[in-house]
Amino acid sequence: MQLRGKTIPVGGVFAPMAGLTDAACRHLMADHGAAWTVSEMASAKAITFGDKKSLTLLRDPHPHGLYAVQLFGADPDTLGRAIGILAEKGIRYDILDINMGCPAPKITSSGAGSKLMLDPFLCGQMVKAAREAVGPDTPLTVKMRIGWDADHLTGVEVARWCEENGADLIAVHGRTREQMYIPPVDVEAIAAIKKAVSIPVLANGDITTAEGALQMLEQTGCDGVMIGRGALGDPWLFERVRAALLGDPQPALPTLNQRMAALRSQIYEMCEEKGEWAAMPQARSQAMHYMKGLRGAAALRRACSMLEHFEDVDRLIDTVYRCQE
Ligand SMILES: Cc1cc2nc3c(=O)[nH]c(=O)nc-3n(C[C@H](O)[C@H](O)[C@H](O)COP(=O)(O)O)c2cc1C
Repeated sequence: MQLRGKTIPVGGVFAPMAGLTDAACRHLMADHGAAWTVSEMASAKAITFGDKKSLTLLRDPHPHGLYAVQLFGADPDTLGRAIGILAEKGIRYDILDINMGCPAPKITSSGAGSKLMLDPFLCGQMVKAAREAVGPDTPLTVKMRIGWDADHLTGVEVARWCEENGADLIAVHGRTREQMYIPPVDVEAIAAIKKAVSIPVLANGDITTAEGALQMLEQTGCDGVMIGRGALGDPWLFERVRAALLGDPQPALPTLNQRMAALRSQIYEMCEEKGEWAAMPQARSQAMHYMKGLRGAAALRRACSMLEHFEDVDRLIDTVYRCQE
């Protein structure tokens, strides 16, 4: 796939997840074959107010692979100005992504995130402002849901407005805002959006295996898949998905040693990046994901929740090995 002259490698795209997809997490997924990774979302409005924390969320001096930054907002002019500030502050990125899917009340109450799905014209205006701000050479993508609720399945209309105003690709999480994260994903609604536009569309929602990725592509006709939660604690999912997309044999599953080494190095990088004090609370939830399918679930959950310092990670890993004996 090509976006504005940029060659996109074959593979699943790692979905943005606020509070989880920090640089350490993104680097890990990219190293295991994610086609690109996306920052946590940042507020366009906060950026125009000079908020340093928002810029910190986006800044990645040494991204691994292609890197997208995601902004949310409800005002086209503010979005355009925020993008201008990213350039002034030297925030480097390959792809600019607009959030039209976040269901959190603190975001939708300001008209942003999935609330935009109620106003397809405004979605188009957001894309137009972003396109003017990023210029003609930078890929511009949109991450959306299939609508606001069952009475407002606006995905097709929103996608058309986005395409018409300069979006290069749309990623669709196959649920309405009302559905939050409740299964199942509506593959037919994703397929209808894919059919309605000529730009590439990524299908997103509940993909946890390579077979699941292929099935999603078959059911929706989409050009690629975006994967979020399924890759947490299992970055090798991107290797399996890439192999499946290429028609290559499936790689061997990771050994316990490889899993624990990845966990340790991810948390080490988190501590390096933001300091132990800020990193360790987030490390607890990252660590939980590496415990999937292991024996001793209760003991391992307890050990994860007790991570306070980096050295506790080695104690956790000892507990993991003891529980598997
Ligand atoms: C904790 C969490 C945080 C999320 N944060 C974002 C976000 O910042 N921006 C966004 O577009 N989507 C966000 N999402 C949605 C995911 O990108 C994705 O669409 C959703 O999790 C469904 O895909 P999955 O089943 O592969 O995880 C978030 C999801 C979760 C669970």
